Amino acid sequence: MTYREVLENARKTILNCKACPECNGLGCGNTLPGPGSKAPGNGAHDNWAAWKKIRLNFDTFTEDGPVDTGCSLFGREFSLPLMSGPIGSMTQYSKDDITVAFNDGVMEGTARTGTIDCFGDGVTPETISGALESMAKYHPAAIPVFNPMPNASIMKKMDLFEDTDALAMCVVVDSAGLSHWKHIGEQPGTKTVADLKELRAHTKKPFLVKGIMTAKGAKQALEAGADGIIVSNHGGRALADVPGTAEVLPEIVEAVKGEIKIIVDGGIRHGVDMVKALAIGADAVLICRPFAVAWFGGGAEGVRTYVELLKNEFSEAMYMVGARKTADLNPDMLRFQFS
Ligand SMILES: Cc1cc2nc3c(=O)[nH]c(=O)nc-3n(C[C@H](O)[C@H](O)[C@H](O)COP(=O)(O)O)c2cc1C
Repeated sequence: MTYREVLENARKTILNCKACPECNGLGCGNTLPGPGSKAPGNGAHDNWAAWKKIRLNFDTFTEDGPVDTGCSLFGREFSLPLMSGPIGSMTQYSKDDITVAFNDGVMEGTARTGTIDCFGDGVTPETISGALESMAKYHPAAIPVFNPMPNASIMKKMDLFEDTDALAMCVVVDSAGLSHWKHIGEQPGTKTVADLKELRAHTKKPFLVKGIMTAKGAKQALEAGADGIIVSNHGGRALADVPGTAEVLPEIVEAVKGEIKIIVDGGIRHGVDMVKALAIGADAVLICRPFAVAWFGGGAEGVRTYVELLKNEFSEAMYMVGARKTADLNPDMLRFQFS
């Protein structure tokens, strides 16, 4: 299956998304509910555009040799520094609740490609029970991502994953700003460092905080005892007119690099974007919307096709900037064009 076929297939069934050849946030705009950005609808595009303001420096005066795209994270080895993004409810893309089937397909696809799967805790109990069943089938490197509900509720959900082979546990803090929660029972809210400390203490697994956009926030996550942060603005869905994640990544790296794992998402679409993120200092990237398109276009096989495409692009870009392994990537390989 080619990636072009994946896109063509996806267009037959996916709702609120045009499965654009380039997923740059322009096609979905402010479709919320749907996969777009909060009104006026510029957030996803701003993320995408920020990566384009960073350019790559050729370096072919390097000893020749094969490229190794592998990385290690939280004690496990992966073929690529890549995580699929959590989508708590696939009703954003479909009239039916297909979230369990989506999580199943992405877990199979990421397990087959040696990459990491993040999945959302969703809005129905079946989302979690389904995820547990899929984890038992494929043994993906899975990370449950819990919305910022009251701590007691998050801890109950954490307990369900404590004795599984989940790679880590994650709480997403910026979902507090999602307007569609207003129509669903339990309400999310903002978290204090003390709240995060309590969650951190509740699990023996590595603990991640998703939704960090400032050096201050990164330091607070560190203070709470987090093992990793996901630099993210929820794909522009929680607040408009925030900076692109590529714009804030350098100052966050400067503040906490080496003390905590740094993952970044938001508009990362190609191997060149992955090179930029790792060269700035991220340990891995997370990609969300294209995984939904890949799954609509071919289930687990569509996911595999997309990951293989990314792997080829990442490997080729690494080769041309003079990196032979991911640890070689560094800021000298980049030229910044932020105004
Ligand atoms: C339809 C949709 C649903 C999402 N649901 C969740 C969620 O439940 N939990 C979460 O942490 N992030 C959620 N996100 C945010 C993504 O995981 C990711 O942070 C964001 O989309 C940026 O990545 P992207 O530009 O590659 O899409 C959702 C995003 C979309 C588009």
